[in-house]
Amino acid sequence: MASTLIPEPAILTPVEEIMGLERSYLLQNYARYPLVLHRGKGCYLYDLDGKRYLDLISGIGVNSLGYSHPRITKVIRQQAGLLLHTSNLYYHEYQGRLAERLAQISGLQRTFFCNSGTEAMEGALKMIRAHGNSISPRKIDIISLENSFHGRTLGAISITGQPKYRKDFEPLLPGARFVPRNDIQALEAAFSHNTAGIVLEFIQGEGGIYPISEAFARRAHELAQEYNALLVFDEIQCGVGRPGAYFAFQLTDPVLLPDVVIAAKPMACGIPLGVVIANEKAASAIKPGMHGSTYGGGPLACRVALEFFDILDELMPSIITVGGYFRMRLTEMMHEFSFIKEVRGHGLMIGAELEFSGKHLVLEGIKEGLLFNCTHDTVLRFLPPYILTEQDVDRAMSALARVFRNAKPPEA
Ligand SMILES: Cc1ncc(COP(=O)(O)O)c(C=O)c1O
Repeated sequence: MASTLIPEPAILTPVEEIMGLERSYLLQNYARYPLVLHRGKGCYLYDLDGKRYLDLISGIGVNSLGYSHPRITKVIRQQAGLLLHTSNLYYHEYQGRLAERLAQISGLQRTFFCNSGTEAMEGALKMIRAHGNSISPRKIDIISLENSFHGRTLGAISITGQPKYRKDFEPLLPGARFVPRNDIQALEAAFSHNTAGIVLEFIQGEGGIYPISEAFARRAHELAQEYNALLVFDEIQCGVGRPGAYFAFQLTDPVLLPDVVIAAKPMACGIPLGVVIANEKAASAIKPGMHGSTYGGGPLACRVALEFFDILDELMPSIITVGGYFRMRLTEMMHEFSFIKEVRGHGLMIGAELEFSGKHLVLEGIKEGLLFNCTHDTVLRFLPPYILTEQDVDRAMSALARVFRNAKPPEA
């Protein structure tokens, strides 16, 4: 019969349809996990079929107050009915107030607002270049660390110390100098009168949750002063409450104040917002017309961030205690699972380094209803929402133990 020759149209499940559309129409730059998320509440996410996941990665450190936080939802609803965007041609009620708040918590006076981490990095790079140029056209060198990550724009990858991010895009910015983390001799050797700035993650994130030593940070500060270079801390992943302080550099005693700090991820709870916060010396390098952003610092993002900072003050003690409890429980697991080599981190920025690649464990975690990721091949990375409780940690550890019990090293 003729009708049997006509193929039946494929009936796709909603998940298959979504994945198929992405395969056909998106740039194929991401390797996604096979999970379609639909909604979230508190620390939990739900997929299209209603399956629940305890979220220990929070959109790579962005969903700081989890999902559907009542105060954040309320503020977003209110502001959506009032004013979403003004451009920076005009004033609105929230940008100055948020800048004042950032000055109070950072100890640095002036803020520039943008929309992402890498855009904040670009702002800081332009500040470094303008500062150097104001002294000498040869003062263009920027020191950063091997194994660092500073974003995906051309400027940011120029100073990112992992060749895999740079190799396809060369030539990049001239003058990048990479030194190994905590190697004070190499740091001293890298500085010269051509150094315009040094950029450091206080705790390397993508690089595997590696804190830098206080001695190394202090020497970087001294050398930056000696050579009149700007010291920039990239706190896009390790800052804004996550380490159990407003910023990771504030874990030093006495506090080691940089010239510039950049931040983004958790600040507006999922609404894009990045900041460059600078002292007067660094800020004075940028004159009217030298930098800008159409969307940066819009009323919605700034108002949400102000609400976030009010809530963060209340949450800070629990970030410290729940973070400590999380690390303690993970460390205890090292007895049963000897392939865990080390547990590192501060507050709710935590890494567990394994003896083998942990990538396949992320999929096992998804099966167990637990979201985390793997960075630097062997480090399981946990950046949970700040509202995580000790009961959530207990649940997470039970699920993680099941993942560890079932999972063999990838090659076994
Ligand atoms: C330390 C650090 N800097 C910069 C960035 C880039 O931020 P974004 O992805 O928002 O551009 C990231 C992102 O993970 C980061 O961890």
